[in-house]
Amino acid sequence: MQAITVRAETADDFKAIDVVHLSAFEGDDEVGFIDSLRNTSGYIPELSLVAEFNGRIVGHILLTRICFQQGSKSVDILALAPMAVVPSQSHRGIGSELVKTAIEEAKKQGYTAIAVIGHPEFYQRLGFKLAEDLKVGINLSIDQDLVTVMELEQGALGDGGNLIYSSQFSQVY
Ligand SMILES: CC(C)(COP(=O)(O)OP(=O)(O)OC[C@H]1O[C@@H](n2cnc3c(N)ncnc32)[C@H](O)[C@@H]1OP(=O)(O)O)[C@@H](O)C(=O)NCCC(=O)NCCS
Repeated sequence: MQAITVRAETADDFKAIDVVHLSAFEGDDEVGFIDSLRNTSGYIPELSLVAEFNGRIVGHILLTRICFQQGSKSVDILALAPMAVVPSQSHRGIGSELVKTAIEEAKKQGYTAIAVIGHPEFYQRLGFKLAEDLKVGINLSIDQDLVTVMELEQGALGDGGNLIYSSQFSQVY
């Protein structure tokens, strides 16, 4: 694979990022979703990453802050969503590279866990575990088998708890 550069997004990238998601997903739900997430307090510019190939943006991944509730305790962790790679460049490792770079950046920023909805096989290959197996539930009405999590710090998810996704997510999932 030729060199792929992964870096944080800038405002100049927003349109190109929209095009990545429009090409990868059916419809424009993700474009509105990303826009709404950028306008929440959970948005972390350093955790919205683009993959560049030959000077063009071919992939994007977004991680935003959500709450993880353990009894009366609540900690900030990260939700990975959405992510996309343009179809013409898929199956070349770009998606995996985006996830791995996001994990490293999340660790640097001191976050202790990441949760994802969808494509559990893909994420398990990258070290995520089924949320159910760690007794981690979710406040959205979706199939629990679709949720995977990764502890960035051992024991971060303790004996389990609940992922509290914001209303921006319930409009998409
Ligand atoms: C899922 C996606 C981000 C993967 O990106 P990628 O650059 O192809 O990923 P990689 O090359 O690192 O890994 C490829 C693996 O991803 C998984 N994958 C790729 N496309 C997939 C799809 N449409 N459905 C399910 N899994 C898929 C497969 O496990 C694949 O393995 P394979 O190449 O051995 O078949 C990309 O295909 C995509 O944008 N899909 C459409 C949007 C989407 O579903 N995003 C995920 C939302 S969380």
